[in-house]
Amino acid sequence: MFAEELITAIKIARHIVVLTGAGVSAESGIPTFRDAQTGLWENFDATQLASPQGFQSDPELVWGWYEWRRAQVLGARPNPAHYAIVQFAEQVEQLTLITQNVDDLHERAGSPNVIRLHGSLHQPRCFACASPYAFPEAIPQEPAAGRRLPPSRCPHCNDYIRPGVVWFGESLPEAEWRRAELAAKACDVLLSIGTSALVWPAAQLPIDAARHGAVVVQINPDQTPLNAVARYNIQGKAGEILPGLVDAVAL
Ligand code: OAD
Repeated sequence: MFAEELITAIKIARHIVVLTGAGVSAESGIPTFRDAQTGLWENFDATQLASPQGFQSDPELVWGWYEWRRAQVLGARPNPAHYAIVQFAEQVEQLTLITQNVDDLHERAGSPNVIRLHGSLHQPRCFACASPYAFPEAIPQEPAAGRRLPPSRCPHCNDYIRPGVVWFGESLPEAEWRRAELAAKACDVLLSIGTSALVWPAAQLPIDAARHGAVVVQINPDQTPLNAVARYNIQGKAGEILPGLVDAVAL
């Protein structure tokens, strides 16, 4: 089912990068952003919900929306794709996992040292002074998608607590981005899994890897701009393709 050359390239690789996007969590029931009909940005206004200006103009709407998403993630479980990545890391010399996702399903599956390019739904901070904020222990009831909720206040400066995710117009966390760039440029194989490859600078990583000689592999049910760059385009769902690929490499 997989090309012999692909299995060999993975087997002899000394360093593998796995870059994931929302598609890797789709089979856990977490909606993606850009899939037709079900994607979050098909149904909600990204400018209002994912920008500092949107938060300042209506903090209750934005906080309620992220609490809805956090509750969804807390109620979800890792799927076979997340677990296959854990197994894969045990089989190869070095694996660097980079995610654009703000859920914690990679960590809950058992992946250590995940490089999070877009932050986390579970690590809010103060909008003004950036002090980290700990959520109360109680798991929120899953609020309705459009329900407004007042954000908590910072115990240090009394400004609003904001979601710990990267919004449009904001920079990626510097140390994470540096680690990701270095890994992409140094790896032998990069697997891009479940990302539309449309959001920069994350979309630059597979291109950098290909330029530096890595074999780029894409797993996605749909076409993306990365099809033109990837040496192997495996069309299908991550949870169905990845376990088979990992098993094929183990043989
Ligand atoms: P997108 O929603 O843009 O793309 C999801 C991709 O996953 C699409 O290409 C789908 O075809 C694919 N997909 C769907 N189901 C899949 C499955 N079962 N297995 C494999 N692939 C599947 O999500 P991202 O590329 O992650 O930013 O989006 C990048 C960023 O844009 C996100 O991190 C988010 C968003 O604005 C922040 O939250 C900061």
